Amino acid sequence: MINDIKRLKEEKNAVILAHYYQLPEVQDIADFIGDSYALSKQAANTSADTIVFCGVHFMAETAKLLSPDKTVLLPEIDAGCPMADRITAAQLAAYKAKNPDRTVVCYVNSTAGVKALSDVCVTSSNAEKILAHYKDHKILYVPDKNLGNYAKRKYNLDLEAWPGFCCIHNDLTVELVDAMREKHPEAAFIVHPEAPLDVLDKADYIGGTKGLIEFVKQSPYKRYIVGTEEGILHQMRKEAPDKDVVVLTPELRCYDMKKTTLESVHRALKTDTYAIEVDSSVAAGARRAIDRMMALSEQ
Ligand code: 13P
Ligand code: SF4
Repeated sequence: MINDIKRLKEEKNAVILAHYYQLPEVQDIADFIGDSYALSKQAANTSADTIVFCGVHFMAETAKLLSPDKTVLLPEIDAGCPMADRITAAQLAAYKAKNPDRTVVCYVNSTAGVKALSDVCVTSSNAEKILAHYKDHKILYVPDKNLGNYAKRKYNLDLEAWPGFCCIHNDLTVELVDAMREKHPEAAFIVHPEAPLDVLDKADYIGGTKGLIEFVKQSPYKRYIVGTEEGILHQMRKEAPDKDVVVLTPELRCYDMKKTTLESVHRALKTDTYAIEVDSSVAAGARRAIDRMMALSEQ
């Protein structure tokens, strides 16, 4: 299967991109593994004709927005992100009609329709920087209330957070953290900003997936209690083999991220499924929000 994936990849001049939450065997056949931001940049800059995106729908859609002339394949068409579905373009349009003075900042975990109605997009790796850049604005942040409220407090922003959340990270509790800290008193607790504020307050480090991996590689702690999706442990162990990483709870498993298998990657390459298209009525607007993110992020 792996050899055939490699053969098909060559034949089609394809590249396989995978998020850190993918199954270990899927991460291992990828040409590039990364967080939402790095994967977007890879998609924008690749010379491949086909991008096989091992992740969830909004990620493949963002890749298609950035590389509209390429074929972007999502191996499992129903691999979605429940957080992205917490706001529709119609809901955002209605909010904007009532609140025309708010600058709309959308998390990349959103649909192209929502991005098209937003002033700028952000990912976990640049959200703080970009939100702080808009500190003199009245902001609406969609759809993640946890990341939004965290940045609001940290930078003293006039920010309204849409009441959306990631069903995996939002379930983390201080009780879970306290119990694990008791078990591993010497460990650092590190967490993704999609977790609730009281859980973030317990952390030694808060960051997106790339930031979490870098922290494990660079900080002096030997053991880490990891408050994000368990797929990330695979790369942490590869990149920091001398460190010990444990997931905060086995419940930290994103079922949508885990839908993609070697079999579905193989099928994707063999049958060109499932090709992602973006409605032309929203593509230009969504691209504008992503381009603005790229420009602000690199500043
Ligand atoms: P990152 O941008 O940190 O990779 O996060 C993506 C995501 O879906 C987190 O739940
Ligand atoms: Fe979406 Fe949460 Fe899964 Fe990330 S972990 S893709 S935010 S449901």
